[in-house]
Amino acid sequence: MLEGLKRLEYRGYDSAGLAVLQDGGVTNVKSVGRVANLAKLASGKNLTGTTGISHTRWATHGGVTDANAHPHVSSDGQVVLVHNGVIENYVAIKKFLLTKGYTFASETDTEVLANLIAYHLAKEPAAPAPAPGASAPMADASSRFLTAVRKTLLHVEGTYGIAVLSPAHPGELVAARKGSPLILGVGENEHLIASDVSALVSRTQNVVYLKDGELVHVTGSGFTLSTLDLADVSPVIDQVTWSVEDAELGEHPHYMLKEIFEQPQALENAMRGRFSADGSTANFGGLNLTPADFRIIDRFVFTSCGTGWHACLVAEHLIERYARIPVEVDYASEFRYRNAPLDRDALFFVISQSGETIDTLAALREAKRKGYKCMAICNVVGSTIARESDGGIYQHAGPEIGVASTKAFTSQLLIAAMFALYVARMRDMSFSEGVEFVKGLKQVPDLAARTLKLAPQIEDIAKRYSKFNDFLFLGRLDLFPIALEGALKLKEISYIHAEGYPAAEMKHGPIALISEECPSVFLVPKGELFNKVVSSMQEIKARKGLIIAIAPESVELPEGLADETLRIPDCHDAVLPILATIPVQLLSYHIALARGCDVDKPRNLAKSVTVE
Ligand code: G6P
Repeated sequence: MLEGLKRLEYRGYDSAGLAVLQDGGVTNVKSVGRVANLAKLASGKNLTGTTGISHTRWATHGGVTDANAHPHVSSDGQVVLVHNGVIENYVAIKKFLLTKGYTFASETDTEVLANLIAYHLAKEPAAPAPAPGASAPMADASSRFLTAVRKTLLHVEGTYGIAVLSPAHPGELVAARKGSPLILGVGENEHLIASDVSALVSRTQNVVYLKDGELVHVTGSGFTLSTLDLADVSPVIDQVTWSVEDAELGEHPHYMLKEIFEQPQALENAMRGRFSADGSTANFGGLNLTPADFRIIDRFVFTSCGTGWHACLVAEHLIERYARIPVEVDYASEFRYRNAPLDRDALFFVISQSGETIDTLAALREAKRKGYKCMAICNVVGSTIARESDGGIYQHAGPEIGVASTKAFTSQLLIAAMFALYVARMRDMSFSEGVEFVKGLKQVPDLAARTLKLAPQIEDIAKRYSKFNDFLFLGRLDLFPIALEGALKLKEISYIHAEGYPAAEMKHGPIALISEECPSVFLVPKGELFNKVVSSMQEIKARKGLIIAIAPESVELPEGLADETLRIPDCHDAVLPILATIPVQLLSYHIALARGCDVDKPRNLAKSVTVE
């Protein structure tokens, strides 16, 4: 269990705990801080059981304290449980349980679950003994424990991924999900349950992805799946396609740096097998839509969260420019409540690296509820969003462990460019333009590898600029989302205040921030807007602002205008956002290092946010 928790550390957490059934009771150990603290505490406890549950907590209800850490034990000591998600009606449940004599030791919403299961367990009649000569009833049909968990969940509003034990039922473990991911690993002589395959993959690659509303009941002799309303479910065992080594650090000092340098490979993987034989367009096997379906689409709606939202903005530019179809972009967390009027023939897209972000999942469900076809661009195979969408495109970028998304983002940008090409070729893009486009895309892995050679120059710049506490990132059109992404990366891992702005809009407000103490990072385009961006740079220079320019090799910047210039290779216009991203990733990485920040475990952040 400790190994599993260690492998989930990247998801972001503030406390950890584990409980083991042994000697007829529960040994529960928990502690604020790192898994290493928990390991130290646990090593003094002589843990001998073979059934246990463990958890890393990212605080929602109640501060970061030992008492609020999971597992939580019911006040009668009969139920112990770990929980991801949020129980929204916990206040009403708590009031009820207090009248029944249950007490509470934490400020969490989770503790009501432990007590409510204990309440139902106490009420559940013991199974009648089998008639003489009759075979014993199926474990499930007679499991008071499973029934108590099921009854409890019928009263719960909110989201959960739970694993539950009872010292009175030592041979059983019950887990269930609604809204929070849960995966069963079928190992050799063991079963493992986790919220993320990375926790299991060192023990088994055979997994069952639970669906919302399903429970799994694990006993010494196997497992059964069922739904909350008592239907049996036949399990589908999937194979995880990556191995534990893919998720390990190897020689690299940080996951973030490892993943930045994996980008050429991730970009190659996103394209593999996805171009037509005549080399003029892309193919996507998983969209489940015919060219005729595409002909009637009059709008795309893209939603996502965080970095994925920036990828949506780039997709908007590329699809509108090349395929000439309007695109609307919305934050998933806003879309789900906005009740936006949608065109009749809109096609809905979500982008999610993890495929588990709850707001993105909710947006997808809302669009599906309204009857729209929904596509997903996801990295994690078998994730909830990937499974609930009507079709989609897998990124094949390999596991992304660094909290600050890097290779998943550039791979999303490449898929957006390929998708723009795919739709454009069904509309007005000519064969020869398509061939040029494909050639441009195929060069990306090599050009990304060349861009990575900027690392030493960026490290040097970072050391000199790490003293500043404010940064602006400026770009136009499809480089504006890269400005947003550069600012987000810097905020996330170095805690420096940074803003991304459209370069020309800067004069309507952010220019007030400009001084010798607030550098600007400019993403310089080629073509018609080059001169306009140079004018914006002049406006900054005139106010003594420092400038870091990220510019294609072939553009000529006025002498002395930029204080630092990072040259990226010339490339097809549609892939410039990808190459322009790499220097901003490296810049934030090296600035964070220079400031002594924990790059892979930034404060307060979680890799995949499965609560609203
Ligand atoms: C969190 C992460 C971000 C990520 C966002 C969306 O906020 O810290 O790096 O971009 O979630 O995650 P997703 O897995 O849906 O792409």
